Amino acid sequence: MTLIGLDVGTSGVKAIALSETGEVLATAEEHYPLSTPRPGWAEQDPEDWWRAAQACLARLPEGEVGFAGQMHGLVVLGEDDRVLRPAILWNDQRTAEECAEIERRVGLERLIELTGNRALTGFTAPKLLWLRAHEPETYAAIRHLLLPKDYVRFRLTGERAIDAADASGTLLFDVARRRFSPEVCDALDVPAEWLPPAYESTAIGGAGDQAAAALGAGIDAPGPVSVVLGTSGVVFAVLPGYAPDAQARVHVFCHAVPGTWHAMGVMLSAAGSAAWLRQVLGAELGVLDAEAAAWPPGSEGLLFAPYLAGERTPHADPDARGAFTGLSVRHDRGALWRAMLEGVAFGLRDSLELLRELDARPEVGRVSGGGARSELWVKIVASVLDLPLEHTESDEGSAFGAALLAGVRAGVFADAHEAVARCVRVRERIEPDPAWTAVYEEAYARYRALYPALKR
Ligand code: XUL
Repeated sequence: MTLIGLDVGTSGVKAIALSETGEVLATAEEHYPLSTPRPGWAEQDPEDWWRAAQACLARLPEGEVGFAGQMHGLVVLGEDDRVLRPAILWNDQRTAEECAEIERRVGLERLIELTGNRALTGFTAPKLLWLRAHEPETYAAIRHLLLPKDYVRFRLTGERAIDAADASGTLLFDVARRRFSPEVCDALDVPAEWLPPAYESTAIGGAGDQAAAALGAGIDAPGPVSVVLGTSGVVFAVLPGYAPDAQARVHVFCHAVPGTWHAMGVMLSAAGSAAWLRQVLGAELGVLDAEAAAWPPGSEGLLFAPYLAGERTPHADPDARGAFTGLSVRHDRGALWRAMLEGVAFGLRDSLELLRELDARPEVGRVSGGGARSELWVKIVASVLDLPLEHTESDEGSAFGAALLAGVRAGVFADAHEAVARCVRVRERIEPDPAWTAVYEEAYARYRALYPALKR
């Protein structure tokens, strides 16, 4: 049987066709725009996801389809399953007031106990409360909620469903018990009948993109961390059990493997920073990487703060903004590019440090996401994290994980562990460069001082 993985991402849909032993038979990719109608807002038209998914599927062989996608996005459907407004995405920052309201209504301590998290602007529940306050007519018309990839599944199969991994990011989910939380729904006055039935990822063939990326990189148990250079930047560790951080400095969610959980730090602009700077500089990625490689590590004191869309981990601050500091007349385009790659790596280091405080002791990471195609970037990240990074045979992370989940659902694999054992192979290992690591230790200390200095 051919296994298809669809990843409904922020920049586009990526799709992959796999054999039952994990060979990539074909891939397809379709892009769509991100709309920012006001500062801090981020929206997409669910119809764009559906069109892109159809175009990708048309180019792949037929097979059993699994789904991964950007997490937290709010898709609201009315009578007749009409989409009522553009989806509000994971990196949208409009809901600061609603987050405060949620923490007040549920109580911060209880919220963390139940959901593993505090209320963050990107999560789904605050978006729903924002709609109630600001677009009451739309709110009144709601009959169903879905997350982005589940909307695509719904269009493809007519099935309304969600998995525990993605549901964890709604803030309406009892993460320990792996089901929606009547207590949180009641406290927020959210009708439980709007929510889709929740299943384990392996039962439904789907997961939020981060859980899918980890599985696709072979991370099905505590051990290696998943390092993702997608639009967002993520460091993800599987936990031995449900153990929220008392201050919820990192997210604790259900993993795509039944009965397991994970912690992760999420920075909002990783490859997102690269996409922005590349557009500003107007050059090809290969050219920019080559120019950046000519600069020494640390870019002669130039630092980049990657808070272009506000930040989540470690500074839950929708108003944070980016910066270049330490510019001199010697700095050119390549230096700006290198400082950007390094600044994102420092942001990932922040998340890794928090995971270490939760007792994660990784000895290696597995890297995926569009940014992982840059050799220079992966070497910088490995050196900043002081952690060897492995590429799997396919760097397609989330789409690969979605295809594995499709295989478990279809009975090709007995479980997620067998899927990983049969399909995931490491292709290459990038070691940290000790000379770079030494320079980055000092630069990281200066980077840590940037956020407080820039705080508005
Ligand atoms: C995870 C998150 C992002 C999106 C990106 O919490 O918000 O990584 O899933 O697609």
